[in-house]
Amino acid sequence: MTAVTAVTANLPPPRIAVVGSLNMDLVLQVQHAPGPGETVLADALLLVPGGKGGNQAVACARQGAQVFLFGRVGDDGYGHTLRAGLDADGIDHRGVQTDTEVTTGVAAITVETTGQNRIVVVPGANGRFMLNAEALRGSVQGAGGLVLQLEIPMSQVLAAADVAHAAGCPVLLNPSPIQPLPDALWPLVNILVVNEVEAAALAGQSVATPADAAQVAQALRSKGPAQVVVTLGAAGAVAADATGCRYHPGLVVQAVDTTAAGDTFLGALAVALARGEPLDAAVRDGIRASALCVTQPGAQPSIPARAAVAHSPQPPAWSPL
Ligand code: RIB
Repeated sequence: MTAVTAVTANLPPPRIAVVGSLNMDLVLQVQHAPGPGETVLADALLLVPGGKGGNQAVACARQGAQVFLFGRVGDDGYGHTLRAGLDADGIDHRGVQTDTEVTTGVAAITVETTGQNRIVVVPGANGRFMLNAEALRGSVQGAGGLVLQLEIPMSQVLAAADVAHAAGCPVLLNPSPIQPLPDALWPLVNILVVNEVEAAALAGQSVATPADAAQVAQALRSKGPAQVVVTLGAAGAVAADATGCRYHPGLVVQAVDTTAAGDTFLGALAVALARGEPLDAAVRDGIRASALCVTQPGAQPSIPARAAVAHSPQPPAWSPL
């Protein structure tokens, strides 16, 4: 073991808070997704724990962080199963509320043989999440990051970002599913992580190449976030900060299911940054983790552990843009 590894191993795990959705994913494995008016037969139906908040919490926990999750599930079998999964990953889910009137969120997902997915979410209890600001304040004090997405009400995303910002905790936002962001949210976000579709929607211009992504990333930085990462699927990612933009090529893998690849990327990136790694090293961790994720079916079962990421291939060298 090198001296650097020995020192890192002795550091306490970074603490990360996640505020977001929990869904039970109903995964339909199909040869091809149905077009308008078309009926297709599925090869299999799988019930898999998911939801962007839950997935990102699991991704952070499997990268070695101590994770506090805030969300809302129904008082039903799906909700109980999701909590059991969080327990298995050592995630503190005392901040996950139980709604006795509305059922747990559900996502209907078709996954084609190419690994391409299509997702429709029924928010259920996620849509009635109400932030306990006092409890979140306790979790973000001295934490390495607050991770947010957009499958809960925007008012609660804004409130959570406000609490973390006031506590001096970095706010990471993954604006998915994409929707217009309130002006008040932009200055509260430190690190914005978007895919090419979300980047294009936020910036109002298309993103087809790493150069496009760099241009859009800088435009988004001017709205508030000091660091912006645009993921480009199998093509890798573009990282932008005050020093400029870098293109990080992706890893070539055989994808079977891309579900939760973005969540896995974000979790690995968040934990690396919370450990004090530079942005480019954190992006490389994200690329390695998400490359492993897409080789396995389902959301949370496909999210890799830290050891697997550490033993996986390194992405090709990055280049300035
Ligand atoms: O990001 C993947 C997730 O999106 C799925 O697990 C599904 O639940 C939806 O929230």
